[in-house]
Amino acid sequence: MADLFDRVQVGNLRLRNRIVMSPMGTGVDSDGGFSEQTRAYFERRAEGGFALIHTGCTCVSVKYEPRQGNLLDKLSMVGTLNRVAESVHQQGGKLSCELLVGCGRYGFAAKDPHDDKEGGDGNSYDWLIPLEGSDLNNPPFSSSPTPWMVDPSIICRQYSIEQLHDIEKSFALSAKFAKDAGCDAITILADGGYLIDQFITPLWNWREDEYGGSFENRMRFLLNLIAGAQETCGKDFPIIVKFTVTHCIEGGRSVEEGIEVAKRLEKAGVAALIADQGFTDVWYKNIPTVYNGYGSKIETAAKVQKAVNIPVGCDGNMGDPAIARKAVQEGKISLVLMGRQCIADPDWPKKVMAGNYDDIRYCIGCSECMNDEVYGRYNSCSINPSVAFENFSEVKPAEEPKNVLVVGGGPGGMETALTAAERGHKVTIWEKDSRLGGVANGAGKPRFKLMVRNYIRYMINQVMKNSNITVVYNKKATSDNIRDFGADKIVLAIGGVQSVPPIPGLKNNPNVDTAVSYMTDHTDADGNVIIIGAGLVGTETALDLQEKGRHVVLVEALGGIAVNDNMQMNNRMMIEKMVADSNLETHFNTMVKRAEADRLIIEEDGKESEIPYDKILVATGMRANLGLQEELEPYYSFDELFTIGDAAQKGLIKNAVHQGFGVAKNQL
Ligand SMILES: Cc1cc2nc3c(=O)[nH]c(=O)nc-3n(C[C@H](O)[C@H](O)[C@H](O)COP(=O)(O)OP(=O)(O)OC[C@H]3O[C@@H](n4cnc5c(N)ncnc54)[C@H](O)[C@@H]3O)c2cc1C
Ligand SMILES: Cc1cc2nc3c(=O)[nH]c(=O)nc-3n(C[C@H](O)[C@H](O)[C@H](O)COP(=O)(O)O)c2cc1C
Ligand code: SF4
Repeated sequence: MADLFDRVQVGNLRLRNRIVMSPMGTGVDSDGGFSEQTRAYFERRAEGGFALIHTGCTCVSVKYEPRQGNLLDKLSMVGTLNRVAESVHQQGGKLSCELLVGCGRYGFAAKDPHDDKEGGDGNSYDWLIPLEGSDLNNPPFSSSPTPWMVDPSIICRQYSIEQLHDIEKSFALSAKFAKDAGCDAITILADGGYLIDQFITPLWNWREDEYGGSFENRMRFLLNLIAGAQETCGKDFPIIVKFTVTHCIEGGRSVEEGIEVAKRLEKAGVAALIADQGFTDVWYKNIPTVYNGYGSKIETAAKVQKAVNIPVGCDGNMGDPAIARKAVQEGKISLVLMGRQCIADPDWPKKVMAGNYDDIRYCIGCSECMNDEVYGRYNSCSINPSVAFENFSEVKPAEEPKNVLVVGGGPGGMETALTAAERGHKVTIWEKDSRLGGVANGAGKPRFKLMVRNYIRYMINQVMKNSNITVVYNKKATSDNIRDFGADKIVLAIGGVQSVPPIPGLKNNPNVDTAVSYMTDHTDADGNVIIIGAGLVGTETALDLQEKGRHVVLVEALGGIAVNDNMQMNNRMMIEKMVADSNLETHFNTMVKRAEADRLIIEEDGKESEIPYDKILVATGMRANLGLQEELEPYYSFDELFTIGDAAQKGLIKNAVHQGFGVAKNQL
């Protein structure tokens, strides 16, 4: 029986364990090379024990579409990749460069094809992502005249055979550059509906030439790429293929065909496979969300592993050590890949090997990291503020240890306390509740938000075992008792306040409370429950209550769920699906007129109606909570008193954690 920490052979490459960093784009570096920051980012993951590090997608050419990742199209691009390889090797890891031949119908344009003027405005992120190297005045190229993903009314241009041969040549050369840079393998991005995937499936490949039609013909593009790399790099240079076993939609690839793809790749000499599922239309399948829980691709990958003799791996929220280990032990997969968990905690392998499961900083599946690249930023992490600053994020001991009072034990307060304690300060947390975690306890309350619960549990564990931190529970801070306490530095992390709209009948109504109050276990809600507001909080509250057997009605003034919430697209798609699959009664574009003793009066489509209730939960948003800061300002200077997190401005865990870290690292 194999274990996570057993060595494994990938072609002629021996990995020190079975834990692999998934490919995640770092293409924001200005010239397409790997900057010093990016080098340090990868090195840190190898230092944490990952056996094989993947670069993010690296383009082989920018001739036919703009750059959508790093670039390895000429000799001068080898140098910075070589520094990544050297750094990874010095940490005992191996490096595979993921090569991307194109996005095809997923490609972004640098110019609005609807716009006759040259250049477009280049400033809209809605659908127009300007990328370096683009000279597209026309729609993207694809396997066939497929509809462009961004705007299906625009039809892609079909690649000619000559152009495909040209791309195959570029690919073979890039593979050689990767080998010359010191990479131990290359990985071909053939999944997720991108160009190669477009060729493999009849869903997007309607060609009648040698690149279309039969299974062998549809595989030809990928097989030619593999053969080309074998020629330039030698047959013993490991080639890994990341491919989509099933698209998870009607008309897309079935698992059966996915297995045929895997067998054909094995026959072509591929050293290992990364088994993916889904694509952008069902994004929560390939980039599973906070709601999907752990290990959602394992069963699909297991079917492939059963059919081939080369190692097969999968990613997809693999951060739960027990689930990852069991999948390997049961022979379902040979490699455990980690994308976001590897960002959130680069030391996952070392911690798991030591059995320190409680010390793992569990990824919360928010996919904020994914958003960064779209906006030209380095990948950051909501809960690990050191990401993107690996080169200079060292937390240095304080010159003079001080008494620090942190008010509020939510994620922001806990991050502040931990970082301050790491610097040698003596920290006291006052928490008015009887437990730590703050509103994030509510974020993690539903069954379907285990990932957030795991993170909060981790934070609480870290605080509890830190001898530099004292927690005082059931202690409500006021400006008087704070001043009496006499701390040198004060950080207010007291969270936001729930705003209740001035709707007649809500105030002083014993059957009205806030959704946050329910989610943080300060109130219960039985029978018929109406939730006013279908933002993230209202919707998760509704789904949680419904799972518990309550009849829930969701009323929202706007046209849908979480309209004004900052949610990544995969999470948004998933929660919309959860609502669609549920029995929730929803009323969108509906105004609440007033609450009577046992019924709520609403106006929908210009007509008034009533909904009976036992409990109303208000979820119409939070606002900042700056009263305490203002009361204390006359007594403390700007470098003694700080407000962070939701108290400063309504946000998410990311704001609270990053602000707490920043204050504690640099300003205490
Ligand atoms: C249902 C729900 C789901 C959510 N889901 C997500 C999610 O999936 N991802 C995400 O990133 N964010 C999510 N959020 C938002 C996230 O939980 C908050 O942004 C985050 O908890 C803010 O952290 P904080 O430390 O600033 O404040 P809080 O978490 O609000 O903590 C403030 C703490 O201060 C204490 N306190 C207040 N006043 C005093 C006082 N006078 N004295 C002593 N103690 C005091 C409170 O008891 C509390 O413990 C969700 C929120 C809710 C309600
Ligand atoms: C920030 C980010 C960037 C990504 N970039 C790539 C990429 O360049 N190439 C690729 O094959 N997959 C990419 N992915 C997908 C991941 O490799 C992985 O398949 C996905 O995140 C699911 O795994 P996880 O749940 O372990 O994160 C990216 C994912 C994220 C979160
Ligand atoms: S930003 Fe969110 S999803 Fe990405 S690694 Fe961090 S916690 Fe995980």
